[in-house]
Order: sequence, then C-alpha cells, then structure tokens
Amino acid sequence: METQQKTEIYSPGLEGVIACKTRICQIDGQAGKLYYAGYPIEDLVHHSTFEEVSFLLWQQRLPRQDELEQLDKMFKETRSLPAEVLQFLELMPHTSHPMDALRTVASLLACFDTNLEKSPEANLQRAIFLTARFPTIVANFHRLRQNQKPIQPHPDLGLAANFLYMLLGKEPTADQARVMDAALILHADHEMNASTFAALVTASTLSDIYSAVASGIGALKGPLHGGANEAVLKMLLEIADPANVESYVEQALVKKTKIMGFGHRIYKSYDPRARIFKEYARRLSGRTKFSRFFKINEKLEEVMQAKKGQHGIFPNVDLYSGIVYHQLGIPADLFTPIFAIARVAGWTAHILEYWRDNRLFRPNALYEGPPPRPYVPIEQRR
Ligand code: CMC
Repeated sequence: METQQKTEIYSPGLEGVIACKTRICQIDGQAGKLYYAGYPIEDLVHHSTFEEVSFLLWQQRLPRQDELEQLDKMFKETRSLPAEVLQFLELMPHTSHPMDALRTVASLLACFDTNLEKSPEANLQRAIFLTARFPTIVANFHRLRQNQKPIQPHPDLGLAANFLYMLLGKEPTADQARVMDAALILHADHEMNASTFAALVTASTLSDIYSAVASGIGALKGPLHGGANEAVLKMLLEIADPANVESYVEQALVKKTKIMGFGHRIYKSYDPRARIFKEYARRLSGRTKFSRFFKINEKLEEVMQAKKGQHGIFPNVDLYSGIVYHQLGIPADLFTPIFAIARVAGWTAHILEYWRDNRLFRPNALYEGPPPRPYVPIEQRR
C-alpha cells in the first residue's frame, strides 16, 4: 500500500489557514475593503436593504424586483413565532442573557420543523424562516422580561423597521429604520469568522441547519467576537470621560487587557464597517448626552493609534455600533443579539454553500502529553 505523505501545519487559532472556498464574501484586510459577492459594502449600505442583501448572500446575485417582492412576502408571512415557542419564551428566566434566549429558541425551532425534506430548496426555506424569526425572538423576549406583552409583527414594515417596532413599541422614524437596516447590512456576513466557522463545523457532520446556527450563536456570544459590542459600552461607562482615556489605555496595556472594539485577525487597517458606523454615531450623537461616548471613542482612537497603530490594531465594527444602538434606545445586552439577527443570513448562506461540496471538518491536534505508558492500578498510585 502506498503511504501518503501529509504536510502537517500548526497554526494557533488557525491563522492563515484556508478552511473552504466561497463565492459569498471577500475581505481585503490590508486595504480595509469588504465585498458581498463582489459588491462593496459601502454601496450596499447606501443603496440596498437587509432583505436584498440576504438574497444576495444566499444566491450570490442581486434579486430582480419580483424575486425581492417574493422574499419580502415570505419574511413577512413567517416572522411570527408558534404559540408554543412564545409560551417557552415566557417560561425562561427573565434574567437570562438575550443571547442565551436566542440560542435556545433557535434550537427549539428545530422541534417544530416537521418537514423531513433535506433538499437545498428546503434548507433555503429554513434559512428564510430563521432570518425572519430572529428579530421576533429577540424583541418578544425583551418585552416579556420586562413583564410587557409581546408585540405582533407589523404587516407593512420591513425587517429592520419591524424589529424596532416590536422591540420599542412604536413605529420608528424613517431615519431610525434606515440606521437599523444599515446596521444589519453591515453585520450580515464576514467571510470565515469564528461563528461562521463554528456553524460550518457542525454543518459539515451533515447535522441540521438549526444545530449549525445554534453553534454560530454560541460562538458569536464571546467578547472576542460579537460580544465585543456590549463590552465596548461597558468600557465607555467605566472610562466615563475623555480625560480618563489615556490612563485607562495605559493601565489596560500594562495588564495585557484588550481594548474592546480594536484589533482584528484579518483587518490590519481601519475596518470599513467601523468607518460607516462612526459616521452614523457622529450624526446621531450630535449635541445630545451621547456625544460624551462619541468623544471618548475618538480619544480612544487617537491614543490607540499612537500606541498600537504600527502593530496593525485599528477600530473594528464594534467600536461605534453600540453608541448607535444606545442612541436608538436599545439596551446593551441586545447589541450582540442584533449582530446575530443580521449574521444568521450569512451563517445560513455559508452552510448552504458548504453543503454543495461537503467535507467533514476534522483537523489534527499536536500532542504534547506524556509518551505511551502502562496503566497503573489505583492502589499502586502515589
Ligand atoms: N487591545 C490591545 N491589544 C491588542 C488588541 C486590543 N484590542 N487586539 C490585539 N492586541 C494585541 C495582543 O495583545 C497581541 O499582542 P502581543 O503580540 O504583544 O501579545 C497582538 O495584538 C495580537 O493579538 P491576538 O489576540 O493574538 O490577535 P488575534 O488576531 O487573535 O485577535 C481579536 C483578534 C479580535 C481577538 C483581538 O484583536 C481582540 O481581542 N480585540 C478586542 C475584542 C474585539 O473588539 N473583538 C471584535 C472583533 S471584530 C467583530 C467580529 O467580527 O467579531
């Protein structure tokens, strides 16, 4: 039998490893550019909608008018939760983190899916249902934990506007709806990030789309990934004043604590999403009480640029997003769930793409333990 020589590469955190091929998303980390299926993120934010971007991620082309209308109709028809799921949400401890509630309910939705069909078409339908329902899960849980009645989806509002409506109890202004739509577009996908990879690892065993999405939510929650937006607001509250930034950063760097909202595995320049969020944050903050947060962030940028800029550590998407959400009246523990509301489109797009040419993810580990040795009976151990 022919022995196959395999090259073994150890790359901590899989840095630089190409895990799969994709036609969905491309990042140029040196130039600070992001494209969804070839379209620059700036163009999509300014001209598109989250609905259209979801179609783009799933199909890798922009929809025709009739296709977009059909998707919009499907989103609207499927965004209510089954009554049993609502009851379940009601039973969850109100102190649960909304990411835990979302992960649990995303998983629970599998139990209500009686369709045994596993075709690409059936899985695309599931991707649409999940994307339609994520805003409802988050908004309904938020109302219930405040002992308020959940608000049924508005039949005429788009996904972003309807989320704000169900969450805050009144129809958003056109400007507020547009900002939320832009935020969802900015978070919809990001190539082989940790949560997408987690989703693909689960999908690669030929498990189901719900399990894969639940894996993605779990990975997104951590503060090195999606959880950073909530952590940024906590940091801003702790810093409290632009005058405290310098000493805060110095102390953190001495203690080797990360400054949230800075640094990225792929971007070694300014994250293009952060640039866009910064402009929204600047505009929304204006002269309001939120302008203090904006000023702290600007000072953080200045100090970090001086201390870490030469190491390729720049603002990432999470630095300014929280200020924007805070300004819209959204509590901090919902920032990461908003990330998930958008990213579910990207997760499912990558899962569907990967299943077209599936191969089990099964890397190796570099063993560093003791060499093979005889078992010692318990009475002889010391
Ligand atoms: N503050 C201070 N130092 C940093 C930071 C930071 N935010 N980010 C990286 N570094 C330093 C780090 O201490 C290390 O220094 P040294 O070589 O001297 O030990 C070096 O840069 C490399 O850091 P790393 O953690 O090995 O780099 P990575 O590629 O694994 O990390 C990261 C990427 C995002 C985990 C990291 O930059 C970080 O923890 N940032 C803060 C958390 C954050 O904002 N996360 C959101 C990422 S963007 C949204 C998303 O898509 O998830």
